Amino acid sequence: MTAVSSTANTESHASVLHENRVFPPSAAYLAQTTLNADTFAQLKREADLDLDAFWSHRARELLTWEKPFTQGLDETQAPFYQWFADGTLNVSFNCLDRHLGTQPDKVALIAEADDGSAEYITYQTLYERVCLFANGLKSLGVVAGDRVIIYMPMVANAVVAMQACARLGAIHSVVFGGFSSKSLAERIIDAEAKVVITANIGYRGGKPIELKKTVDEAVAQSNNLVEHVVVWARDQTETIMQARDIWWHDLTAQQTTDCPPVWVSAEHPLFILYTSGSTGKPKGVQHSSAGYLLGALQSFKWTFDQQPNDVFWCTADVGWITGHSYVAYGPLAAGATQVVFEGVPTFPDASRFWQMIEKHKVSIFYTAPTAIRSLIKLGADLPAKHDLSSLRLLGSVGEPINPEAWIWYYNVVGGGRCPIVDTWWQTETGSQMLTPLPGAVATKPGSCAFPLPGLSINILDEALHPTAPREAGTLVIERPFPSMVRTLWRDPERFKTAYFPEEFGGRYVAGDSAMRDEDGYFWILGRTDDVLNVSGHRLGTMEIESALVANPLVAEAAVVGRPDEVTGEAVVAFVTLKGERPTGDAALEMIKTLKAFVGQEIGAIARPADIRFSDALPKTRSGKIMRRLLRSIARGDAITQDISTLENPAIIKQLQEG
Ligand code: WTA
Repeated sequence: MTAVSSTANTESHASVLHENRVFPPSAAYLAQTTLNADTFAQLKREADLDLDAFWSHRARELLTWEKPFTQGLDETQAPFYQWFADGTLNVSFNCLDRHLGTQPDKVALIAEADDGSAEYITYQTLYERVCLFANGLKSLGVVAGDRVIIYMPMVANAVVAMQACARLGAIHSVVFGGFSSKSLAERIIDAEAKVVITANIGYRGGKPIELKKTVDEAVAQSNNLVEHVVVWARDQTETIMQARDIWWHDLTAQQTTDCPPVWVSAEHPLFILYTSGSTGKPKGVQHSSAGYLLGALQSFKWTFDQQPNDVFWCTADVGWITGHSYVAYGPLAAGATQVVFEGVPTFPDASRFWQMIEKHKVSIFYTAPTAIRSLIKLGADLPAKHDLSSLRLLGSVGEPINPEAWIWYYNVVGGGRCPIVDTWWQTETGSQMLTPLPGAVATKPGSCAFPLPGLSINILDEALHPTAPREAGTLVIERPFPSMVRTLWRDPERFKTAYFPEEFGGRYVAGDSAMRDEDGYFWILGRTDDVLNVSGHRLGTMEIESALVANPLVAEAAVVGRPDEVTGEAVVAFVTLKGERPTGDAALEMIKTLKAFVGQEIGAIARPADIRFSDALPKTRSGKIMRRLLRSIARGDAITQDISTLENPAIIKQLQEG
């Protein structure tokens, strides 16, 4: 099957193909779960019977509407699907106001800073902070539909800023604090943002991150679009303020805590989040208000089997979709208590996560395989030194988890009693799609198990037939669902071609290859496009190539991924310089320069792990770069490809030597 051979990282996950261990939910788990196999069988039957009625029922039950909707799914403009379109609501009202009558004093956020200090914010206080800040934004002229960029550390005020935008109907676009000024400027320009919200400084692992300085550089490159920059004073670090800048505390000083929510239509865009695709330009994934919130909230309740006393901790930054759906929106809409963490898992040492789970009595812990792998490497024995008995459920997201990391997570962190929900989904799907349901499904290490109720996910071969067990194919979603991407910001054409290619007959094509086993469990094998997954973050190979060739010394560059024990995949760049091919110390110096250059162009996450120089890149006679060959070379594999069509076979040796 071609999907396997064309996939960059399939072979690195070969181990999952032979995985056959099965872990049914423990008796201890079953004793306290509220959702079991019967509940889900019933839900599935209901969805199979009438998908529209199924989701409409959930939307009425779980969301609070200003004006109820009369129609669920509208397919008339497919693939621009709409859900609940004539209803009106406000997302922030659904996350905050509606809990004030029942649980104003429940802690919403436990915000732990990099230095270990923690702040406990109740629903009442969070509501007041959001209203104050929303009123501040309003005083700057922010109205529904305006775009606001948020470039913040992972602190409570990042969530406050997102919620305040939602309260006003302003469309936020959060940019991860690790992106460079150039990436930030690109997003400001594409979204035509009026306001940027940032902090004077951030801290990660004890190191200061100069967010405000980066914003200044980005705003300078943004064609005078930005009218105001709001700066939260993270600490007393001296900060140069310009005429357009205003301190968060000054903006809110004169405001009241009364800010009526702006009611918007169900389809009103809640946010744009940029993600990598297979071209050089990031895609502005646009999400709706009601459908998105329904997906985030409903999946949060199902997958995490949420109970009133849970302390939930999702370690993702709000710069990524996981931090949107399972920090800023889902848990708050559900009225949950959650931990928000500014720092990194390895500071002050590799026991930080375990220490925080013990300290805050976390019961549900949701993190990425890359964090698990790095913590195994840095201290596999450290969890045992902490009391992790509060945990009842573990989750994994962002990339395939290798069975060995899964088993360690299960035994050492979860004490053999906590199910692991391995959740497959994407920025575009807005909420989890495939996952074992903890009390209902036995788990298999490395498998995302089954679709959640109301989702029709399939694996197809090139003739559009479902693949046989253990045969790889293309992962597609057959029917629309509420939280799906609505369009790409101001690029509806790219939306259609990127996700609904004609050859798949109107189905949503996820860009992943996958297979099912004999029991119908789904196993994700890797991307089918030129997207890499480094530490759970999506990076386009073209994006990195464009960054490299933007350097005046570079003539040509090709980027591929190679498996990495900790980061899942690592970036390897093959570069041809305009001048001589450097060797020895000159090559080492040039590698340093180019890595730093990519860091400046995109952000540190995109820096190649390895750069190799050659006099030319291997191309076919028709001029196509032979990427499969480069992948083999990057992995150090023997070359099995046919290289007879290669223009210049001698360069292979150069590429192998670096
Ligand atoms: C990959 C992150 C295997 C997949 C929520 C997908 C996964 C891409 C898993 C989306 C998982 C995500 N197992 N692979 N549990 N979760 N992926 O948009 O390739 O940052 O297409 O969304 O990550 O990445 P994104």
